[in-house]
Amino acid sequence: MTLGTTTTMRAATAFKQRYGRMPDVVASAPGRVNLIGEHIDYNGGDVLPIAIGQRTHVAAMRSSLGKTRVRSLGAGAEGIFDAENPPKAGDWWDYVAGVTWAFKQAGKTLPQFDLAIASDVPQSAGLSSSASLEVAVAAAINALIGAPFDARKLADLAFQAESEFVGVACGIMDQFASALAREGQALLIHCDSRATEYVPFPGYVLILDTTVRRDLRNGAFNERRRECAMALAWMRAAGVHTPDLAHAPSDVFRRVPFGEPLGSRARHVVGEHLRVTEAVSALRDSGHIPRTLLQASHESLRTLYDCSTPELDWIVDAISTQPGVSGARLTGAGWGGCAIALGDNLEALHAAAAAVRPGYESKFGRAPEAWVTRAGPGIQIEQV
Ligand code: GLA
Repeated sequence: MTLGTTTTMRAATAFKQRYGRMPDVVASAPGRVNLIGEHIDYNGGDVLPIAIGQRTHVAAMRSSLGKTRVRSLGAGAEGIFDAENPPKAGDWWDYVAGVTWAFKQAGKTLPQFDLAIASDVPQSAGLSSSASLEVAVAAAINALIGAPFDARKLADLAFQAESEFVGVACGIMDQFASALAREGQALLIHCDSRATEYVPFPGYVLILDTTVRRDLRNGAFNERRRECAMALAWMRAAGVHTPDLAHAPSDVFRRVPFGEPLGSRARHVVGEHLRVTEAVSALRDSGHIPRTLLQASHESLRTLYDCSTPELDWIVDAISTQPGVSGARLTGAGWGGCAIALGDNLEALHAAAAAVRPGYESKFGRAPEAWVTRAGPGIQIEQV
């Protein structure tokens, strides 16, 4: 047996302690940061995430007990449910049960399983811990039933679990990034067609966690989705033909009498989608995303989409001027969570994080977390 990393080992050991034998498979999937293209996935445009170094590991085997058991090193209670017909429990294992439900929707009759989970993806930090859990569970189950599905289908199933079973109105970015990411590459997702392309991304990313926690279910995210749907409806009512908000023609703001905040929301979406296109061509040409694009993205999220916080603004401002930082912005949904800063030099990014830490602590009374990562791989089957 080859156990790749400490977290793989933690999942396998937790499995053995609980179920009395080693698992048949350990599958893992990463968290993600989005380089640019925020709040664009559910508006039909382009996004550009990478997988980060932190991953969720799921150790698993089939069970003949007539029920599925799942324990997580991060959560107290053990989940027990029928994988063939999972109920929604309102508890953390709904993310796991939802994946078994999605397999059933895809026509697969599942056996029962024993599962143990270990993750080093921080929770509620905007780094997609739930997507990494769903994708890792989907990959483990897929491996145990003879691998009928490819990674793209597993991303679909994980997305379906989160949006339809758990009931979070997210877009497709997180599950797609977690399943399909590649080492050294950013993943360009055209969210209207779900087509993907890889764009070389050789740099480092400093992730700065404000440690302000948010919950996507708290309503602000859903409110933005509703506002975007209303902005699209306004455009159509005014005779503007567009398949979605992200692809609206740029003269739309002269043609449609948006009220506020719908006009601001639409401006963000149309502008941010174009910035992704610019970022991708710059990356392909030079290996870098221009600082001005990252800055414009953050400003747009702050002023037009209204999803930044004083902590995120402070950190983005402070880190941007540090030596070795080639640009910064908030990443993920916002309303707390993380910012990213890009650079080519590992030591410089560590030094930049250390330089801003005391100022942040004295201003906000909380210590920021920081990690440096590179674009990592998506699903991995650690051991079969
Ligand atoms: C959350 C959602 C994603 C995406 C981002 C914002 O992470 O889960 O689908 O909408 O917010 O870009």
